[in-house]
Formats: sequence, C-alpha cells, structure tokens
Amino acid sequence: MMTTEKIWTAEALRQAVRPRLSGYRYTHTLGVEKAARQLAAQYGGDPERAAFAALLHDITKRLSKEEQLYLCEKYDIIPCDIEMQEWKMLHGRTAAAIAAAEYGADAEICEAIACHTTGRAGMTLLDKVIYLADYIEENRDFDGVERARELARESLDRALLYCFNSSLTDLLARDKLIHADTVAARNWLLERA
Ligand SMILES: [Fe+2]
Ligand SMILES: [Fe+2]
Repeated sequence: MMTTEKIWTAEALRQAVRPRLSGYRYTHTLGVEKAARQLAAQYGGDPERAAFAALLHDITKRLSKEEQLYLCEKYDIIPCDIEMQEWKMLHGRTAAAIAAAEYGADAEICEAIACHTTGRAGMTLLDKVIYLADYIEENRDFDGVERARELARESLDRALLYCFNSSLTDLLARDKLIHADTVAARNWLLERA
C-alpha cells in the first residue's frame, strides 16, 4: 500500500492547500511545515509525514460556524459543549476529516491534525511535533515564543509543557472556556517533562 506522503509531494500538496488558506494563513502553514520538519528530524520522527500533517492542519480554519457544523454532520464528528461554544476549536477535527477524505491522510496523521488545537493525554510523537510546530513557527511573535523555541531545542516534552501552561494561563486570564483535553494533555506532560 502506498503511504500517504508518497501520494503527494510536498510541493504538490502546498499548491493543493493554498486556495483553502488566506495569505497570512498560508505563510503560517509554510512556517509550521518548516518547524515540523525540523522537530521531526531532531526527535526521531519522519519529516515528510510531519510536513504532510503540517500542510493540512489549518485547512478549515477560515470556515464559519455554520460550515464547521456542516462538516461535523457530514463526517460524524460530535462536538462537545465546549466545542459548540468555542466553535473555532472545531477546525482541527474538521481539517482531519477533510485530510482523510480528500488527501488520503492516514489515521496517525489525522490524529495529529485533529488534536492540534487542544492537545490530548497520550500524544504521539507526531501529535507533539505538530502542536509545537504550530506554536513556535517562525512567523509567530508573542510573549513567550522565544522561550518555547529555546526549550524546543532541548526537550520536546518540556517545550510542550511550557506551551500548555502558557495557553492555560492565557485562557484563565481571559475568562475563556478550557477544553478538558487541554487540561488532560498538560497533566499528562507534567508527569513526563
Ligand atoms: Fe489551527
Ligand atoms: Fe496553525
């Protein structure tokens, strides 16, 4: 059986996803691809598979709530209460469904795309690479991103713990809802980092 990354060259996939992404988001996606390749190479993953997941991770991000819910219905995704209220979170799960249906992504790649917004306990190496690449890619510029990049050079788990702690702190400060998977991911990493 052909594996996912053999069906598409990275360049063909870049061209294929481009119409689904706005100008900034396409630049961000290329940044995530680059960071994901580097992290995968550094931590013993497969850079081509990481690139494939990275290029698809935000392909539904620009959709409206109605469009997200339509895709949930179409692909049997059942949003939880938090996802119904913070519906933008759904873009990971809907992107994963489209990655499988239209780009031939396999289960491991879909899982990494699906959990890139919330994280989850028991994240695989590919899940971690995509989550962290999304956070530290070169176009990102926010308080703490340099620290996350430094940690990423030393330890994947410690970098991720830093990212989760920072996002949780930020969500608390802004009185935002927190997805249970994010808390679970952070607690799981705390035991490992
Ligand atoms: Fe995203
Ligand atoms: Fe992203």
